[in-house]
Amino acid sequence: MERPEFKTVGIVGTGAMGRGIAQIAAQAGSAVLLFDTQPDAVIKARDAIVAQWDKLVDKGRLSAGDSAVQKQRLQPAATLADLAHCDLVVEAIVERLDVKKQLFAELEGIVQPAAVLATNTSSLSVTAIAAALQRPWQFAGYHFFNPVPLMKVVECIAGLKTDPAVCQRLAVYARQMGHTPVQAEDTPGFIVNHAGRGYGTEALRIVSEGVADFATIDRILKDQVGFKLGPFELMDLTALDVSHPVMESIYQQYYDEPRYRPSVITAQRLAGGVVGKKVGEGFYKYVDGAPQIAA
Ligand code: NAI
Repeated sequence: MERPEFKTVGIVGTGAMGRGIAQIAAQAGSAVLLFDTQPDAVIKARDAIVAQWDKLVDKGRLSAGDSAVQKQRLQPAATLADLAHCDLVVEAIVERLDVKKQLFAELEGIVQPAAVLATNTSSLSVTAIAAALQRPWQFAGYHFFNPVPLMKVVECIAGLKTDPAVCQRLAVYARQMGHTPVQAEDTPGFIVNHAGRGYGTEALRIVSEGVADFATIDRILKDQVGFKLGPFELMDLTALDVSHPVMESIYQQYYDEPRYRPSVITAQRLAGGVVGKKVGEGFYKYVDGAPQIAA
């Protein structure tokens, strides 16, 4: 196996995205340290990754030996200070500028000066997060998609002060993880979530105008247009506690441009906790992971 561009990688925030990034980083040969503020999140993440590898072993797509080696590469970090020797730290925590700025300012004081710090933000400005840093040239956006092992694209985003060499290293590492890096400008939503406004926001408008119900829209866009997931299935997968703040953030950053205005439908559902598949109910109800139309 080729030597990984980053030997030791820290993951901060081991939810849906952090665990996926951890999985492909370990598969690429890096030692991976997992940190989360929720006490059981790291154990859950490690168990979920190991379950993926066990499935691959059962299907004959991964040897038991390689699986055991990969498992060894995943280690919990009890505190942020345990990430001191990481060459790269990727953050996948809550989508809030103030929280991300605070985290990176703290991380910068922990890691070596040559370490690269990266954010998996979906919508926030890389330059704005970097404003909290003494070494903004070592910081970039590294935006993966859910589920990370299957969605093979990653957007690499330079902030105003990012050293281009940092983005080049992140692109090399993306390829080593089996992903295709795409350079995107530091603009709200970058490429995919900017284009995605059309998909999700217009679908919500169609529902609020009473033109069609959500399941019909999903069905048509999949069966007749060829999308893998309908917009409402996608919102359920991403979960509204993640995607609604992204919608708000893009809208605000474009100075309240009407075409990006978030929907009251998602605001209400978020307030009611009906956020998506991970809680068993979003637009659909989930029984054993399979979507059903809610009564
Ligand atoms: P999630 O809610 O599944 O996981 C977030 C994790 O971060 C939780 O385990 C939480 O305990 C932890 N956390 C929160 N604040 C923390 C802190 N200060 N320090 C350490 N851990 C902390 O969220 P998800 O879906 O993994 O998203 C995380 C980030 O990735 C967000 O910025 C989101 O915008 C971005 N993203 C999400 C995508 C998605 O489809 N879910 C796609 C691409 C990016």
